[in-house]
Amino acid sequence: MTGTTLTTPLPQIETPLLAVALTQGGAVPASLAELDRAAAGIVGRAIASGDFKGKRDETALLYPSGAKPQRVLLVGLGKPGDVTRNSIRRAAAVAAKRARALGTTQFAFALAAEARNGVAAADVGQVVVEGAAQGAWAFTELKAAPDDPKPEVETVAIACDAKEAKALSAGERLGEATAAGHFLTRYLQMLPGNVCTPGYLADRAKQLADQHGFTCTVLDRAQMRQENMGALLAVAQGSQQDPRFIVLEYRGAGADAPVALVGKGVTFDSGGISIKPAQNMEDMKFDMSGAAAVLGTFEALGRLKPRLNVVGLIPSTENLPSGTAVKPGDVVKSHLGKTIEIINTDAEGRLILCDALSYVRRFKPAAVIDIATLTGAVVVALGQVAIGMMGNDDALLAEVREAGERAGERCWPLPLWDEYRDLLKSDIADMKNSGGRGAGSIAGGWFLREFVEGVPWVHLDIAGTAYTDGDGPHQVKGPTAIGVRLFTEFILKRAGA
Ligand code: BES
Ligand code: MN
Ligand code: ZN
Repeated sequence: MTGTTLTTPLPQIETPLLAVALTQGGAVPASLAELDRAAAGIVGRAIASGDFKGKRDETALLYPSGAKPQRVLLVGLGKPGDVTRNSIRRAAAVAAKRARALGTTQFAFALAAEARNGVAAADVGQVVVEGAAQGAWAFTELKAAPDDPKPEVETVAIACDAKEAKALSAGERLGEATAAGHFLTRYLQMLPGNVCTPGYLADRAKQLADQHGFTCTVLDRAQMRQENMGALLAVAQGSQQDPRFIVLEYRGAGADAPVALVGKGVTFDSGGISIKPAQNMEDMKFDMSGAAAVLGTFEALGRLKPRLNVVGLIPSTENLPSGTAVKPGDVVKSHLGKTIEIINTDAEGRLILCDALSYVRRFKPAAVIDIATLTGAVVVALGQVAIGMMGNDDALLAEVREAGERAGERCWPLPLWDEYRDLLKSDIADMKNSGGRGAGSIAGGWFLREFVEGVPWVHLDIAGTAYTDGDGPHQVKGPTAIGVRLFTEFILKRAGA
């Protein structure tokens, strides 16, 4: 998605679609009076008739005569005091989704000045491009004959005052980078398990490294054995597809301690011997969404080149049942040396992540954040609205949460109190990999914590937020690329950008 700026008065903008975002209540805002006048009062009538109230996600498509835009789409922002970066991003997404449905390759976007609520011009530029990328996205690559083929929406032109064009444009560059990351992540998420294998993810990581000048190291099964990654290997032993352990390194700040991002890359999770029910099992191709978010973040990093060092780690495997698969009751030794009794082979995410969390020590990171579709329990707790967040360091938790707020990817904390550690007590090993019914997400978090030593760490459970099972007003059904914007905001803030 490309963003441009437009300083032309609204009635003079030649575009197939001019989206105008405005808030709830009242008459035509002064900033839209000129457009309304040129179009013979069409905006005023939509509002006065009560057909358009300006509620969040509400739209009205108008066909003005007398003004240059072919169509005007009013988009509701909700209550005036509630307008934030996130609601503006969302309005842009709603508009872009409509642009795609209309078959236009570009659209213009205007935010009524009265609705702005103090959001800075650069922020408007950034979030409108991000929203446009989110809303316009659709996956058609694997259809030989798409039912209703539509061109890609490639450009959003944002209307602004000449004096704000420079700041807005700077924000757009940022938005373009996260949009590109988003695009890659959703693409990888959407690919089926027979295409997106651990080897495929590793190839994409290498491609990214070539494109942007990162260092990329990939371990195969034999190298994992040398590294004693017993937990990751236990999950991988049931599959014909070779596992991969992927490491990407971006250097933007010399010898400084890096931030490490660890993404769960289970390219298909059948549950293994503790097999899942058939209903919706196909969704388990999305079990590499954490890995995809890390790769998407590196796409954004490659474009933005912030002054910070970042390491990305992706343990990747399938989780399948077979004659060689790991069994309930088996005990394995992790890379850190702690032993694990595998109670449930479907709790495989923590097994592959724990080896990555101890491997990461060699980079002496300043902070570690892992991202994983880890537990069904987080869907029960928080639904599709928030990421479940746990960690060992209050300052880092606050920093991640704040990045999530700016990104429109909200995190909600769950406690890792000592009492919960008892859930993982094993009769035979240092711990077991599943704690039973209660506090499932916390048990997963506590398991991971056992492998983090002496470094601030946050765990993000995205099982509820990585994909949606239905269309929303601002995005299509399927992958959300959650994490890409959060990580990018986090990194930019740390880099002092
Ligand atoms: N990949 C699943 C978690 C998941 C569930 C992701 C629903 C997306 C939607 C994970 O590997 C898993 O199976 N977790 C188990 C853990 C349990 C056996 C302790 C779960 O949540 O049931
Ligand atoms: Mn599982
Ligand atoms: Zn899983």
